[in-house]
Amino acid sequence: MSSWAKQLGRAGRNNNDNEGGPPSAGRPDRPSSALRTRGGAKGSQASGAGREAEHRAFLFDDAAPSGAGAGGGRSGGPSGAPLRPSSALRTRHKTTSRDAGGEKDAGRVRVAIRLRPKTPQERAEDGDAASVVEVVPEMSRVVLRKSQWEADAYNFDSVFAETSSQARVYETLARPVVEGVLEGFNGTVMAYGQTGTGKTHTMGNLGDLTTNGKGDTADRGVMLRAVDDIINLTTDDETANFKIAVQYMQVYMSAIKDLLDANNEVDVREDPKTNEISFPGATNAEVKTMNDFIDILHRGEENRIVANQKLNSASSRSHSVLAITVRRYPKEAKGGLASATARISKLLIVDLAGSERVTKSGSEGQLLEEAKAINLSLTVLGKCINTLAESGNGAHIPYRESKLTRMLRDSFGGSAKTSLIVCVGPLRKHLSESGSSLLFGQRALKVENALKLREEVDYQLLARQLQRQVDELAGEVERAHKTEAEAVARLKPAEAAARAAEAQLKEAGDRTSAAIAKLNAEKDNEIEHYRASAADLSSRNTQLESEVSMLERQLQEQKSKAGNIAGEKGEMEAENDRLRKRIESLEASVSSAKAEAARTADAMKAASMMLKEGEGAAALQVEVENLRSQLDVKAKALNESSLEVQRLSGELSISNGTVSKMQRELQTLKESGAVGSSPFPRGGDTGGDTGSPTSSSTSPMASGGGSDGSSQTKSKRGLFSMFKRNKSDKGGKGDSSGPPSPHAPRSPLVINAPPKTGNDAVTRLFDQVGLPTIFGLLSYDDPDVRLHAIKVVANLAAEERHQEEIVREGGLPALYKVIHSSTDEATRRIAAGAIANLAMNEGVQERLVSDGALKLVINLAEMTDDIQTKRMVAGGIANLCGNPAVQPRILSEGGLDCLMGFAEGEEPHPDVQSQVARGFANFAKCDAQSAKILVQNGCLPYIIAFSAMTSLTQVKRHADMAIAYISMHSEFHSEVMDEKRKQGMMA
Ligand SMILES: Nc1ncnc2c1ncn2[C@@H]1O[C@H](COP(=O)(O)OP(=O)(O)O)[C@@H](O)[C@H]1O
Ligand SMILES: [Mg+2]
Repeated sequence: MSSWAKQLGRAGRNNNDNEGGPPSAGRPDRPSSALRTRGGAKGSQASGAGREAEHRAFLFDDAAPSGAGAGGGRSGGPSGAPLRPSSALRTRHKTTSRDAGGEKDAGRVRVAIRLRPKTPQERAEDGDAASVVEVVPEMSRVVLRKSQWEADAYNFDSVFAETSSQARVYETLARPVVEGVLEGFNGTVMAYGQTGTGKTHTMGNLGDLTTNGKGDTADRGVMLRAVDDIINLTTDDETANFKIAVQYMQVYMSAIKDLLDANNEVDVREDPKTNEISFPGATNAEVKTMNDFIDILHRGEENRIVANQKLNSASSRSHSVLAITVRRYPKEAKGGLASATARISKLLIVDLAGSERVTKSGSEGQLLEEAKAINLSLTVLGKCINTLAESGNGAHIPYRESKLTRMLRDSFGGSAKTSLIVCVGPLRKHLSESGSSLLFGQRALKVENALKLREEVDYQLLARQLQRQVDELAGEVERAHKTEAEAVARLKPAEAAARAAEAQLKEAGDRTSAAIAKLNAEKDNEIEHYRASAADLSSRNTQLESEVSMLERQLQEQKSKAGNIAGEKGEMEAENDRLRKRIESLEASVSSAKAEAARTADAMKAASMMLKEGEGAAALQVEVENLRSQLDVKAKALNESSLEVQRLSGELSISNGTVSKMQRELQTLKESGAVGSSPFPRGGDTGGDTGSPTSSSTSPMASGGGSDGSSQTKSKRGLFSMFKRNKSDKGGKGDSSGPPSPHAPRSPLVINAPPKTGNDAVTRLFDQVGLPTIFGLLSYDDPDVRLHAIKVVANLAAEERHQEEIVREGGLPALYKVIHSSTDEATRRIAAGAIANLAMNEGVQERLVSDGALKLVINLAEMTDDIQTKRMVAGGIANLCGNPAVQPRILSEGGLDCLMGFAEGEEPHPDVQSQVARGFANFAKCDAQSAKILVQNGCLPYIIAFSAMTSLTQVKRHADMAIAYISMHSEFHSEVMDEKRKQGMMA
């Protein structure tokens, strides 16, 4: 070994296998100055740069790197250790794995130098001239002998002498990359160098393909060996399934051609997320066997030749890129989803175009253009590698400046495991190109990649797995359903039985519920019944209590009435005595008159006889005339006395009847006080059945309805003071007469039913003397005669059977005359009573009104202050009020005004008020029109006021009836309500 060689050896002392170790790679683009100056001292300088540490050998595995030197535990740098045989593969594989696991320069680009042997021709021409390139494989060193005195030495990861076999090159440089690809790393194996230096030989040599491709394989290049390894290793791997696919492309000038289909335009695409490089447009051919692959290479080679012929180009002018994609699917762990994650890695095997300079080759025309394009892409590659070497991956790398660098983006400065083989020729004429190739290799040594496992989820596989799971689960579900159906089938009879039992139970329950409900209903009914009974009893009790108190009140009233009757009876008896005495005296007068008449007759008889005898005829005649006139006078007197006797007898008998009636009444009252009778005395509407004495001193209408106590009367004084009405605007209507109506009153009002016993005498009198005689007595001068006669007429008028006859026989003018001519109050009162009695009869009511009876009694009422006279008048009007045919006349002649006048008199008497209220009730009950007349003419306030009376009286009852009749017509509701409110009856 020459001295410079020894110096080199010293310079590489870091390497434990050698005295020196690798020379400096500190400035890879320039040979170390030590070497240039042949100065061995430069070795230390180189080692001092410390960059050797990055140059880690591939090949040491069990031969542990020395701990000596600045590299420390790490291997010092490219080693010249003997290459291992292929038996070391597995171990190396592990080493590589370890590298990938994170050692500092695991991602550094590995660079090897391969020296081409001289061809036989070259050898013949060159003789034994020393190669311009000297290799020291054991030191991984290359020495470029520039001249006899100058040489540059370079350390690399590996250096292959011209005798190195294809196998060794592959094992050393490419195999670790292939193993990385199978582990999931991207990989690149690339050949660089001048044309003719053996790049294609190294990469693409197909070897001996005789005997169906199974001839001598020693010459096979990296491509075949790599794919052979991939197929074998993946077939052996039991942990995963693999898919291998290849694309084969040629980069010519600035275009990428698909070598598997000349028609395809191919592009380069970088995934923005994963930075994965792909070649869309290039045929992706699946490879399962070596034959598949050899076919592909043949096809590619053919296309390449055709393409180059077309372009009149040489293959050395284009870059060829073989991309082998390996997909690794781990064999499924049961049910695990991780199995769907595939590892995808890509191995690029790149055979670059020749790196010689264009100018030197003297190209022209297209060749020049070609050369420029090729130079351009190689220049850009050089620029990228320079930048990466000097500034690291963070700097801006001009990948995008050429297609080639875009394709190789992951190989330099990316995530791939990359090996570069720099081919150099042995001849001196290659010196310059070899030098620049070595410098390229030196710079590439410094490129660090960040190794990265490539994994992706294979969604198709995942979907298939999930589908399989779904199928399995569906199967399970189906089985479960089947089991369930069987169970259900087994349970069915039991279920039916249970259902039947349930139904029975429900039925029993329903029956029980119904029974309970029935019992409850019965119980409720009973309770309700008892409640109702209790309420009934309670209300009955209340009613009885009120009845008792009312009876007590009635008893009190009747007692006081009995006292009155007793007094009246005494008066009647006295009157009877008087009458009897008077009759006796009259009878005495009559019998004396009779005696005198007899005497006179006797005298006449004597005178006649004397005449007959002729003695003193004239004198006798005078005597006879005298006697005759005396007799006439006597007879007349006698007649008058007889009539008086007759009249008095009648009157006496009436009085007797009245007295006996009073006695009976008294008796009845006494009895009713003890025993009790109807709680309510019958009202005027249904007839005054309580009767009233018809004696001369009382009115025939004495008790036309219950009589209110005097205290009550007092309390009602001034009751109507608030209803001052303007009489003047109601007056002056008396002349209008309503059309006579055929209607009788609906319910003739009997004010006074004279006692039958009493009336029997009157009736007898009536039968004996006849009505004209009785009416004649009404015109007598003697007021007593008139009084008695009018009493007789009044009593006759109380009986229905006489009423029409009285009217027919001219009773009305006689009565009018009595009222007109008489100043005696009793006479006028009784005459008014007679008219009132006649007014009970529907048949005569219209006649009464048209005859002016109504007017007459109204006038009478205005003239008198007598309560009983007013009562008669009011009763008469009340009787007429019930007849709708005469209601208009009642209104126009002031009947209603008269009633209202009674109601608001100075000291209104309950008897009068009772008749007034009855009149209103009679009026109101006819129809809506009647009610309307009442309301419109201002009667309602009186009715309401009567109704407001606190004690239960005839007045209140009649008023309540009147309100009830008025309220039957809804149109008056509001008026009734308003009036009640006005009078404070309502809130
Ligand atoms: N290591 C080698 N051993 C034997 N012959 C070689 C070797 N390297 C190259 N050759 C031969 O040299 C010639 C040129 O090689 P080639 O691979 O075509 O060069 P390049 O592809 O770099 O242009 C070919 O005939 C090839 O067989
Ligand atoms: Mg070539």
